[in-house]
Amino acid sequence: MQVIEYPKKMQELSEQLRREGKILGLVPTMGALHEGHLSLLRRCRAENDLSVMSLFVNPAQFDRKDDLAAYPQDWEGDFKKAEAVGVDLVYAPTAGMMYPEGYQTYVEVEALTRRWEGASRPGHFRGVATVVAKLFTIVKPHQAYFGQKDYQQALVVQRMVQDLNLDLEVIILPIIREEDGLASSSRNWNLSPEERCAAPVLYKALQAAEARVRAGEQGAEAILERMREIIEAEPLAEIDYIACCHPMRLEPVERITESVVFLLAVWIGRTRLIDNALVEVPAQA
Ligand code: PAJ
Repeated sequence: MQVIEYPKKMQELSEQLRREGKILGLVPTMGALHEGHLSLLRRCRAENDLSVMSLFVNPAQFDRKDDLAAYPQDWEGDFKKAEAVGVDLVYAPTAGMMYPEGYQTYVEVEALTRRWEGASRPGHFRGVATVVAKLFTIVKPHQAYFGQKDYQQALVVQRMVQDLNLDLEVIILPIIREEDGLASSSRNWNLSPEERCAAPVLYKALQAAEARVRAGEQGAEAILERMREIIEAEPLAEIDYIACCHPMRLEPVERITESVVFLLAVWIGRTRLIDNALVEVPAQA
């Protein structure tokens, strides 16, 4: 497994590989790899001639300095895990290489980023869209893999690719969970044992919502109220937002007559966790 630091070197290698007719896959990550990342890497490896993982904790997408400082890092462990799943190449630049002095160009996806994560974390999606656009330009993948875990992020990336006519396919893969339902996340490393026990409450609330939609309930507000009750029963949990939305536009839905996505962000102590559930409802005649 080769590790490349310099954007120019990565770019030249990608160009050469493409000229040789190789199909390139990219999995962008911020490291602290877990089963969620590994599921994307395995799929990338299976579907491409060459699988690239980027490893870059992107300062531009952190709205709070303390959050960036607390972000878990384990490069040695990450390299081992990446190698074990068959990653061919790791692109791991420094912040100075991605944002050198004088840097001033950013990508802004509009309506889709106004609510939910975008509202709670000002500037977050501007940072995500910018770094992902740069990674696409540097690595030049034919296919790039993202997790449904960050539902709004995946839609933002898809929208950007469409709007900027970027020549690649964005593939979104399902959420990987721990045994008790907690979605795998690098941020789970920051939970104390007590907080870790409380954290599956997000999934419990989503399961309750899904069951009620499947039973034919259509009123979103009653379902959201039940979700709030479940989460508020957990003393360590504090809700940031809970929403029932249109699965593509992410606007709130009041009456559930078609598929919806439930999105939530909950503080567990000082750690903010997000999760979601896409509930398919057959369109009614
Ligand atoms: P990071 O949080 O490291 O996540 C990298 C990718 O792994 C994202 O596409 C994310 O949705 C996916 N992922 C995380 N947890 C998952 C889970 N439990 N199941 C399935 N997929 C999961 O998301 C980012 O980094 C950054 O914003 C990035 C896109 C790299 C841009 O900096």
